[in-house]
Amino acid sequence: MNYEVAHFDPSGRYNERSSIMNVEAIAIYGATGHTGRLMTHELATRGHKLVLAGRNRQSLIELASKVDAEVEVRVADLDDSQALQAVTENTSVVINCAGPFSRSGEAVARASLKSGSHYLDHAAEPLYVKRVFDELQGPAREAGTVVIPGMSFYGATSGMLASLVADGLEQVDNVTIAYYVTGWLMTAASKYTAVKLANSDRLAYANGKLEVVERNAEPEWFEFPAPIGWRQVLANYPAGEVITVPRSIPTSSVDVFMTVKTFQEDGVFTSENLDATERNRSEFTIVAHVRSSGNTRVGHLFGKDIYQVGALIATEAAVRLADGYTGVAGGVFGAAEVFNPEEFIADMQRLNAFETTF
Ligand SMILES: NC(=O)c1ccc[n+]([C@@H]2O[C@H](COP(=O)([O-])OP(=O)(O)OC[C@H]3O[C@@H](n4cnc5c(N)ncnc54)[C@H](OP(=O)(O)O)[C@@H]3O)[C@@H](O)[C@H]2O)c1
Repeated sequence: MNYEVAHFDPSGRYNERSSIMNVEAIAIYGATGHTGRLMTHELATRGHKLVLAGRNRQSLIELASKVDAEVEVRVADLDDSQALQAVTENTSVVINCAGPFSRSGEAVARASLKSGSHYLDHAAEPLYVKRVFDELQGPAREAGTVVIPGMSFYGATSGMLASLVADGLEQVDNVTIAYYVTGWLMTAASKYTAVKLANSDRLAYANGKLEVVERNAEPEWFEFPAPIGWRQVLANYPAGEVITVPRSIPTSSVDVFMTVKTFQEDGVFTSENLDATERNRSEFTIVAHVRSSGNTRVGHLFGKDIYQVGALIATEAAVRLADGYTGVAGGVFGAAEVFNPEEFIADMQRLNAFETTF
C-alpha cells in the first residue's frame, strides 16, 4: 500500500508524518489538477481543513506547502484500494476532481461510502453518471451518505436552472437545455474526456424511455437570447442531465444541445499546457426550456469562466454537506434533489458566479 501522510500547518510548514485530521476535513482527490487547485483555494479561503490527495506525491506536497489552511497530503493510486480507502478516512466529504470519471469515479466513491463520507465529482459523462445511479444507490442508502455525480458547471448548473423554471408544474412534456460556450480552453483531462465522449455511445429519450444510441444526432439550430441569436448546436450532446433532470422534474424527455462552434474555436483542443490565469476567458449562456401543456417557460443563466464556476458550485455543495445540511437521507442524487435550486442559485449569484433571467 502506497499510503503516506504529510501534514502542513496554515503557514505551509511541514509538521509530522501521522494523520491528525478528524471528520471535519474535506478531501480533494485529483487536487493537483486545474479544477482541484481552484477547489483547494476556495475551500481554504472558507477556512476548511483539507486532505489533498492524488497519485503524484511531489505535486501534492508542493501544493500543500502553498495553501493557507490546515492541510494533509495523502497519496494513492486508483488501483490501490487500501491506499484509496485511507484517503477518505476521517473526512466529511470527498470531492473527486480526477477525470475522466469513468476511470476514477467508482473507486473513489466506493471508498468514500465505506468511510461514511459524502461524495461529489465533476463528471459530465452520462454513461458513468447512469452507472453511479444504477450501482451505488443501494450502498449509498445503506451508508447514509450523499453521492452527487456531476456537481459542477456541466450537470448541476443547468439542472438547478431547469428545476427552478419548472417549479410547480405537475407534468412536463420536455426539458431542453442548450449551452452556448465560447473561449473554452480545455485542460488535459477535459480534452481527454471530450475526445472519449465524442466516440462513446449516447443516451437519448425515445417514447419516454432513456436508451443507449450509437451516434451523434445531426446538428440542429437553436435560438439563444440576443445578442447571440440563432446558432447551430450539437443535438444529443453527452450530458449527465438526461439522467438527473427527470429525478427532480416530472418529465421523461430531456434534450441537451451545445453550440457547434465551441469545438471549432482556436485553442480549444491545444490548450492543455496553459497556465491557470490563461484559462479564465470562457463565457457561457445556458438556456432551459420547459414545455408543459402547450406552454414554454424559459430561463437563462450566463457568466464567465466555466472552470471557476464548476469549482464554486462543488465548493458550495461540499461546504453544505460538511456542515450537516443534506436535506435528504443517504443515496445517489442530482444536485436539484439535494439543494433548494432557488437558494443555491441565489447564493451563486451573490458569489458573482453567474446571472440569471427568466
Ligand atoms: N462537469 C464540469 O463542468 C467540469 C468542470 C471542470 C472539470 N471537469 C472534469 O473534471 C476533470 C478534471 O479536470 P481538470 O480541469 O482539473 O483537469 P486537469 O487539470 O488535467 O487535472 C486532472 C487531475 O486528475 C488527475 N488524474 C487524471 N488521471 C488520473 C488517474 N488515472 N489517477 C489519479 N489521478 C488522475 C491528475 O493527476 P496528475 O497531476 O497526477 O496527472 C490531475 O490532478 C476532467 O475530466 C474534466 O472534464 C468537469
